[in-house]
Amino acid sequence: MARWPELLGGRRPARDEPADSAPETDRAADAAALLDGFPEPLLLLDGIIVTAANAAARRLFGAYVDGEDVRLALRHPQASALLAGTREGPVAIGGLGNPDRRWEMAVSALADGRRLVRLEDRSSAQAAERMRTDFVANASHELRTPLAALIGFIETLEDANGPDDAPIRARFLGIMGAEARRMQRLIDDLMSLSRIEADRFVVPRETIDLVALTRVACAEIEGGGKSGGRVLCSIEAPVANVHGDRAQLLQLLHNVIGNALKYGRPESPVAVSIGTADHNAILIVRDEGEGIPAELIPRLTERFYRVDPGRSRALGGTGLGLAIVKHVVERHRGRLDIVSIVGAGTTVTVTLPLATLS
Ligand SMILES: Nc1ncnc2c1ncn2[C@@H]1O[C@H](COP(=O)(O)OP(=O)(O)OP(=O)(O)O)[C@@H](O)[C@H]1O
Ligand SMILES: [Mg+2]
Repeated sequence: MARWPELLGGRRPARDEPADSAPETDRAADAAALLDGFPEPLLLLDGIIVTAANAAARRLFGAYVDGEDVRLALRHPQASALLAGTREGPVAIGGLGNPDRRWEMAVSALADGRRLVRLEDRSSAQAAERMRTDFVANASHELRTPLAALIGFIETLEDANGPDDAPIRARFLGIMGAEARRMQRLIDDLMSLSRIEADRFVVPRETIDLVALTRVACAEIEGGGKSGGRVLCSIEAPVANVHGDRAQLLQLLHNVIGNALKYGRPESPVAVSIGTADHNAILIVRDEGEGIPAELIPRLTERFYRVDPGRSRALGGTGLGLAIVKHVVERHRGRLDIVSIVGAGTTVTVTLPLATLS
C-alpha cells in the first residue's frame, strides 16, 4: 500500500543543504508525519486512482483507500464532476462519514500531473449558517404575531364606529397599544443584541462601579412600581469596579432581576446581592419561583427560547433577555451561571473580572 514516505522519497537535496544531511528516508518520514498531522483529509491522485492518503483521509474513507478509484471512495456526483473537470470547484459535499458533517472539496494539479484532493470540514460554518437562518425565521415570526393582531383590530375598528361602540373601541385600542409596545420591545431587543454582537471583540474601556450600578437598577425597578417591594438588594462590598459598558451592564441587571420578578412566585422576595471575591465582582440574583428543569438550563440563553412560550408571552417576554445577558457577559470576559431547583427557585450568578488599577 502506498504511503507518503515512499512517495516523498528520492527527493533531490536542496542547494544549500550540507552534504551530511539527514538520510532521505528520515526526511520522507518527517514529511509523512507532517501530512498525517494535518487535521483535514488529503488524497493524492494518479489519474483517478488514489496513490496516497493522509491519516485524516484514511480515517474518513477507511484504511484501504490507497489504490481505490476516488469516485468510489467519494460516491458523490458533484465530486465526480469536479474530478472529471466538468464543473468548477470547490464543491460542498455531505454524507461522508458522519451524515451530519459537511465538507468542501477542492482539487489542485501538481507539477508532475498528479492531483491533490483537499477536504475541508465545514460543519461548524454550516451550523452557524443554520442558526442565522433560524434566527431570521424566528424573528420574523415573532414580529408577525403582534402585527397580525394589530391588523385584525384595525379592520374591526373600521366597522365599530357607532355611538354604542365606544367601550369596544377603548378596549381594542388598549390591546392594540399593548401589541404595538410588544413589537417595539422586540425591535429594541433585536437592535441591542446586534449592537452587542457587533462589539463582541471590542473590550469595554469605561470603569463602572457595579455596586453603584446595582443600586441604580434596584431603585429603577422599585421606582417602576411593578415589583411591589419584593427586591431585596444587599450590598456586600463598598465598590466593585469593572471595565464595562454602562448601558449594557444596566440592561443585564434589568433582565436578570426582571426574570426573577416575572418567574418568581408573586409576593416572594427576590434577593439581589453584589460583592467581590478573588478579583471578581459577583452579582447574585435569587428568586423563589417554579424553577427550571436542569436539562433546559443550557437552552435558556438561545434567542427566543422560552420554557413555557404561552406563559412567557403573556408576561410580555420576547425570549431575548438571557441571550442579551449572555452576550454582555461574554463581551465583558465574565461568566454566567444559572442554578435552579424545580419548585424551589432559581439563582443566577454573574461573575465579572474587577478592573485592575493600571
Ligand atoms: N428566574 C427564572 N425562573 C424561571 N424561569 C426562568 C427564569 N429566568 C428565565 N426563565 C425562563 O427562561 C426563558 C428565557 O428567559 P429570557 O429572559 O431570555 O426571556 P423572557 O423572559 O421570556 O423574555 P424577555 O426577557 O425577552 O422579556 C423564560 O421564558 C423563562 O421560561
Ligand atoms: Mg427575561
